[in-house]
Amino acid sequence: MTFGGPRQQALCSLAALAELSARDFSIGEGAWPLRGIAVLQHGTVHAYQNRCPHAGHALNLRPNEFMDPTGTWLSCRSHGALFDLSSGECVAGPCAGQALRRIPVQVVDGSVHVAPDVDLDAYLARA
Ligand code: FES
Repeated sequence: MTFGGPRQQALCSLAALAELSARDFSIGEGAWPLRGIAVLQHGTVHAYQNRCPHAGHALNLRPNEFMDPTGTWLSCRSHGALFDLSSGECVAGPCAGQALRRIPVQVVDGSVHVAPDVDLDAYLARA
């Protein structure tokens, strides 16, 4: 699969991200799109591949369900790993010391987009 066209699509709006702090997104068609998480922290957007380094599961079980009960960490609903919002590093759980894979993004006209020159195919190659 290649991502020539979908790269231009907005992953989400900044306003929608502000409502929930973290939202899921997918890029590409078919059964195995690239799944991601967009996070807003202190006015900065971070994005990660939605794939826990512990066992490769998506972190969420329900749409946009990423924040732990304290609203401090991204959490994996499968086995409880907690991740730092700004670095993606796992701070507690079975994959402590590992990290979510960052997807470079930029905000254009109030919407979050994948940054130019990101090789999205490489994310699926390592999935
Ligand atoms: S798959 Fe995320 S902690 Fe196990």
